[in-house]
This record gives sequence, C-alpha cells and structure tokens, in this order.
Amino acid sequence: MSGASSLDWLAGPAGPLRGELVVPGDKSVSHRAVMLGAIAEGVTRVRGFLEGEDTRATARILGQLGARIEAPAASERIVHGVGLHGLRGCADDLDCGNAGTGMRLLAGLLAGQVFDSRLVGDASLSRRPMGRVIEPLARMGARIEAAEGGRPPLIIHGNNALQGIDYEMPVASAQVKSALLLAGLYARGETRVREPHPTRDYTERMLAAFGWPVAFRPGEAALSGGQRLRATEVVVPADFSSAAFFLVAATLVPGSELRLRAVGINPRRTGLLHALRAMGADIRVENAGEQGGEPVADLVVRHAPLRGIEIDTAWVPDMIDEFPVLFVAAACARGRTVVRGAAELRVKESDRIAAMAEGLRALGIAVEERPDGAVIEGGRLRGGAVDSRGDHRIAMSFVVAAQLAGDQVRIGDCANVATSFPGFEALARGAGMGVRRAG
Ligand code: S3P
Repeated sequence: MSGASSLDWLAGPAGPLRGELVVPGDKSVSHRAVMLGAIAEGVTRVRGFLEGEDTRATARILGQLGARIEAPAASERIVHGVGLHGLRGCADDLDCGNAGTGMRLLAGLLAGQVFDSRLVGDASLSRRPMGRVIEPLARMGARIEAAEGGRPPLIIHGNNALQGIDYEMPVASAQVKSALLLAGLYARGETRVREPHPTRDYTERMLAAFGWPVAFRPGEAALSGGQRLRATEVVVPADFSSAAFFLVAATLVPGSELRLRAVGINPRRTGLLHALRAMGADIRVENAGEQGGEPVADLVVRHAPLRGIEIDTAWVPDMIDEFPVLFVAAACARGRTVVRGAAELRVKESDRIAAMAEGLRALGIAVEERPDGAVIEGGRLRGGAVDSRGDHRIAMSFVVAAQLAGDQVRIGDCANVATSFPGFEALARGAGMGVRRAG
C-alpha cells in the first residue's frame, strides 16, 4: 500500500515492557485450517483463527469457490466442507491480497479442480516469484499461466489429470511443499517432497488430523491421492512470529519483564529463540503443553544485554520470518552480528535485507548488505525516518527499534501490519511501547 492510503507511525522510547499478553493466532495454521476445512467432509470449527487480512482473504476465496464459512465470533470460523471434489468455479478474480502463503497453497489446491481460476494479489504479491510452484505443479500435469517472470496473476486451468511426483525442492519453502501436497490430494499415485532443510510441517500435521494418511519427518513428506478428509476441530496457537516483536523489545528495553501466553513453539518456528539466547537473552519457556496437537508454552522474557553472534545457517528456515526483528536485536547488541544463507529474505513481502539495511542505516547503524544476508555492527540508534516498504514485519521491527532510539522514529507505510497482526499498535502500547499514528 502506498500513496493516499498510507499510514505512518511515530514510535519512540516509552517505559519498560511489563505484564502478560496474548498475541493473535498463527497465520500459517489459519490459512491451512480454512483450506482443509473447505475440502473436508463435514463441519470444521476453527478456534483462534487469525483475523488478519491475509487469512481473511483466503477464507473469502474459499467462500467464492462455494464453501460456506461462518464467523460466529471474532477469531472463530465454522467451515462447511464441500468434500474433496465439491468446490465450484468462480468467474471473478480470486484476490489473495498480500498473502504469498494464500496464493501458493491455493495454486496447488486449484490445480486439482475441474474448473479454471484466476489468482491475483496486491502490488507486493504481484512482484513475488511463483515459478517455484508453477514448475513442479506443471510436472504433475497442471497447466498454470503467469505474467512475465512467473509473477501473478496466475491462471490455473482445471480438468487436468494430475500425477504424483518425487520432487527435490531447490529452496527450503513450506509454501512450495504445501502446494505440492495439496495438489497431491488430487493426483494419481504418490507425491513426495524432499527439502534441502526442514521447514514448517503444518500442512502435513493438519492433513493427518483431518484423517489423510501422510508420511513425514523433518525434510521429507509423502502422501497418495484418493483418500478423504474428515472435518475436525482446529485450535490455532498464538503466532510465534507475532510474539517475536515482543520478545526482542522486552529483551532490549531495560527493566522489562513480559509473559507471552500460550505461544506456538513448533520447533520449525523457534529459531529466533536459539539465536536470541546465544546472544545473551533471558527467555524462559513455562507451562509447556499442547493445543490442538501443536506444542505451546508461555514465553517469559526479561531484559538482558545482548552480544553479536554469527547466526547458524541451520537456524535460518526456522526463523525465516524473524530476521527483520533479529536485525534490530543485532543493531542493539555489543559487537557484530553476521547473517548468511538467507537469500530468501529478498523475495518476501519486500526485499527484507535491503529494507532493514536502509532503515537501520538511517537510524545510525552500520550495516553491510550481502546477497544472502548482512553484517550488522551494534551501536546507538538515533531518531529519524524509515520506510517499511509496505511490509508488515519491517514496520513492526522498526517500532521495536524505536524503543531504543535517541529520538522519535517515523515509520512510513504501516497499513499492511493488519495483514498478519491486527491490533498490534494497541497491544504494543499496552505492553509499554511508544507507538502512535502520525497525525
Ligand atoms: C509460510 C512459509 C514461509 C514463511 C511464510 C509462511 C507458510 O514462506 O515465510 O510467512 O505458511 O508456509 P516460504 O515457504 O516462502 O519460506
């Protein structure tokens, strides 16, 4: 988003962060819950659904395709499944908004239908690479047209007999893996996906919870077509990626002590915990339990001084969405932090390496950009103006950075925070951060 509708924030140092809070539901799990609910047999209840623009766009699209989805209360959905072959074509565009997860997973799901569909997205999504799903789906027999360079919009032709494949993914991407598994539901034979590094396994776990046999272990997943999905109840854990902003802010601001309640701690998501602890953070995991088959726990974080480290490349896929806020932690740490093996950051909602390097430099931090990462010298942040590039996680990361700055930070183009974290501004203020709309 940009131009007239642009929303800017003013953020700056306030008090320590204290108290307890619950962040909204997990984005990845919410997308998958309504998708699988829609093609299951029976009625699926989803609790803890993320009321973000991304996940609401996915639910809206499934409604356009004939699956009735009720919202009896905030963060609840009742999905009336139409069965594996019950979706109907829709002549209108299917608008995924800002959501790469929505578009890539739906591409897999729609490749298996008997009708044609057209998936579109906003300006940011329209720049993102879709060849990574188009190419393997084509090997399965799908026919997908894209704009130049394999970008959206995508026209997905239906009525193709899909055949399972054994696919070795060139990039570690849960979205690509999930697109292939969803297409695999409609394919003859076995679909097997091998990953260069293990990625989040929510699709596999949720398919199993809906009764579809899936064989999976870190780095590999396989299923065969021709089964049924049976409706179930999905309880969505709080999103670790949303909790991450508070983990870093409370670590950095002296005097802070914050409890984040019942956060999803699936090991494929918690790389930032390892990184922050290696930097010296004081984060305790308490009340560990399970919610809807996913590990959850309270995360109790207390202020602690940080030191720069080399981020282990093995952690990268497990913290892929947390690099913007890790850059902020690095900027406030003593010494140098080195990130490598993270070229994927360049094709997220924005080029996150460039966006963070530019913004941190504007606030007085020395950052050397590299093709697959950055070298960040910890220092003292000053006030100034930064551009979030319409990227939700860049905007929220600079709110965290501003808590340590010498003066106010103006953050441009923040409206897209609502894609993943509706209510962030109020929750952040309630916890003790200084952030408000620029008048
Ligand atoms: C997601 C996978 C990741 C992540 C995104 C959500 C998912 O993307 O960055 O926010 O729900 O599968 P990639 O698959 O492109 O790494």
